[in-house]
Amino acid sequence: VTSNDDNLPVVYRAPQTPHELLAQLELYFGLRYPRKACCPDHTSPADAIIEAYFAKSPIIIWIASRGFGGKTWALAGLSLIELISGFDVVLAGGSGEQSRRAHEAAEKAWGHSAEETVDGKLEAVTAPHWLLANEPRRTWTRTLMGNTMQALTASSRAARGPHPQRLRIDEAEECDVEIIDALMGQTMVTDPRRPAQTILASTHHHEAGTMTELLKRAAEKGWPVRRWCYKETLCNPKNPGSWLLPENIASKRIQVTGRMWRTEYDLEAPDEGGMLFAREALEAMFSGAPVDDGLNQVCLFEDPVDGGDYVVAADWARKVDLSVVAVVRYDVTPPRLVRWVRCFRWPWPKVVKLYNEWGKEYHAHAIHDATGIGDVINTYLDIPISQVTPYIMTPASKVKLYLDYETAVDNGEVEWPALNSLTELHRAVTTDDLYGSGHPPDEICTLALAWQIAGGKRTISRLHRPRGL
Ligand SMILES: Nc1ncnc2c1ncn2[C@@H]1O[C@H](COP(=O)(O)OP(=O)(O)O)[C@@H](O)[C@H]1O
Ligand SMILES: [Mg+2]
Repeated sequence: VTSNDDNLPVVYRAPQTPHELLAQLELYFGLRYPRKACCPDHTSPADAIIEAYFAKSPIIIWIASRGFGGKTWALAGLSLIELISGFDVVLAGGSGEQSRRAHEAAEKAWGHSAEETVDGKLEAVTAPHWLLANEPRRTWTRTLMGNTMQALTASSRAARGPHPQRLRIDEAEECDVEIIDALMGQTMVTDPRRPAQTILASTHHHEAGTMTELLKRAAEKGWPVRRWCYKETLCNPKNPGSWLLPENIASKRIQVTGRMWRTEYDLEAPDEGGMLFAREALEAMFSGAPVDDGLNQVCLFEDPVDGGDYVVAADWARKVDLSVVAVVRYDVTPPRLVRWVRCFRWPWPKVVKLYNEWGKEYHAHAIHDATGIGDVINTYLDIPISQVTPYIMTPASKVKLYLDYETAVDNGEVEWPALNSLTELHRAVTTDDLYGSGHPPDEICTLALAWQIAGGKRTISRLHRPRGL
């Protein structure tokens, strides 16, 4: 393609070598990608882009850390170079959010300009708008050669549209497998010099989700799987193109649970039926000698003190005949369990009476599971209404409840006396019990409710997407 800007013909030549590819990405779009792999079995983002552009395999999977992998930016850069090289490209985001990020990355790349020394002279270099038939659009850009790049959200409608040679699916985990299949069915080679190539990029966080299925197929069909994590993108003078500032890693690590960190950032395979808490977290949580607390045994650890802040929490018996009531003092760090009882087969009025008494004795803030029977109980509470938090369990609020607690445990903020009821339960509880089809243990529910108040502002949560919710 030639341009007659300023009457000077400019010829564009698509990259022929890996070096030219990376050089053009940087020169035209200001995009640089880490060159080196730092972990065993990982691939550098630059090598992954090279492999995709030169279509070393027709289908390749990329798995990289959430946010820190730079997958969306890698796919955007790859798509742009492919567009100006004459390929029809579809960049499909697994969600509207991913597409939005891809649009942002592409917009930024098209706005790139820099000064370069060419033949000893300083020249302004901008993104190659002169190759385009129209100004870049968010979802749709056409070149003078007639090929297009479409950046859209993966959907069944999208899957019925174009016939690209290059298909880039971003956050495949968030797509239905059927849609990915339909999109893959649309790829088409019209010119043997332009081989088809598909990238399925994602984090992998659901044990029974789309990525698990795609990885299974990769194993069966021999599709390469390329992985990288934040160690590849972390700023490092020895790794040209690395961009991630280390502060981001430290702050993210305390915001997410250990389980999320392991799967979404360290790329361990998700194990959703697995134990919720790591052994180290459990060891840190239970201090002191073991306490044998039988059913119906009231454990009194500390009397109320003036100026102490207390929360009384309850999970009312339902299918299981167990109500659990706890008082936690939270003006101290870490918060302390000061009273505890597991009421087996107590009539509700008896449990409510105890809850009211403890609440008054400690001038406590009261929180309880106010769903179902709790809604009725709420009207029998003898505690000033301003001090009561009736916690309604919805799928989302239930996830928040347990995610806040899990995060706090992982961060070492929770310490309880080594009650036998608690040590065993925390050891045995699975992610499925709290976030899946299982039943959350009443004891953990009560403590998690207490934590909603006792954890205060330190507790950060974000809604994760456990299966089935
Ligand atoms: N190659 C890069 N160079 C500089 N910054 C980058 C690069 N890739 C990603 N980033 C930065 O990291 C952020 C997250 O990248 P993104 O591609 O959205 O990650 P992912 O898709 O893996 O979640 C981007 O918004 C951008 O600020
Ligand atoms: Mg992304």
